[in-house]
Amino acid sequence: MIVIGGSSSRGLSADLASVLGVECEQATVKRFPDNECYVRIEKESLDPEAILVQNSYPDSNFVELLLLQEAARSLGVERLVTVVPYFGYARQDKRFEKGEPISAKVMAHHLQLYSDKMITVDIHTPSILDWFDTAESVDVGAAPEIGRFFSKAGIDLVLAPDQGASKRANEVASVIGVEWDYLVKIRLSGTEVKISPKNLDVKGRNVLIVDDIISTGGTIIAATRELRKMGASSVTATCTHGLFAKGALPKLYEECDKVVSANTLEGEVSEISVAPQIAKVI
Ligand code: R5P
Repeated sequence: MIVIGGSSSRGLSADLASVLGVECEQATVKRFPDNECYVRIEKESLDPEAILVQNSYPDSNFVELLLLQEAARSLGVERLVTVVPYFGYARQDKRFEKGEPISAKVMAHHLQLYSDKMITVDIHTPSILDWFDTAESVDVGAAPEIGRFFSKAGIDLVLAPDQGASKRANEVASVIGVEWDYLVKIRLSGTEVKISPKNLDVKGRNVLIVDDIISTGGTIIAATRELRKMGASSVTATCTHGLFAKGALPKLYEECDKVVSANTLEGEVSEISVAPQIAKVI
């Protein structure tokens, strides 16, 4: 068995290979002068079983992933496991308006074409997995690793920014061994959210807010401001997928005591590796 790393997941693929105790091969990825993607797995042949790790976001990574799947097959892989740490377009999982595509379904159908098994991490809507109808599929959660990461960080309370994220907060809190609760979020626009005041005992406590995605940071910033008003001693923000769109990180640094994400999207604060959770389902 071998792990092949795509350009979005150099660190995670290496971590995964090390947890599994197998070789890791980083694919060569370049751009042609016209910006089309060039990939090559520089091996004479591959073992019959391979694990490819690459995001399907942004769009350029989606194309790279499809090309790497075909390249792996061409080198003799009979069973290809594709790990998509951050599955793009997962938030477009419905036809909100007539004439729109169900983007998540389109992505799922194409990603499974060369694959025997698909692994995602904290996919925004788990029912998206039903659209992998020709490949086996499993979604793994980052919560155990997030909990382990913060287990000695002096956290007193774990909060979900909305009720929908409660399960994750509960899991993280149980690993740390502290209480958990959730806030009440009202989305005003794509970038603006309001966190309703709620009767929570946060005074003097070190709070950890856990979400699946931090995109513009609007949710975390609104929650942090509310928690400060309520007397929280410190506010740390964490998530599985740190998109940090539209320059969110510097804004978050101004509001939060610490910001840490898992390494499904690799960047400045992706300190928590989800490799052990992925390894469990290989
Ligand atoms: C929403 O359903 C997600 O769980 C996140 O709360 C959301 O994507 C965060 O977005 P933003 O950082 O832009 O507030």
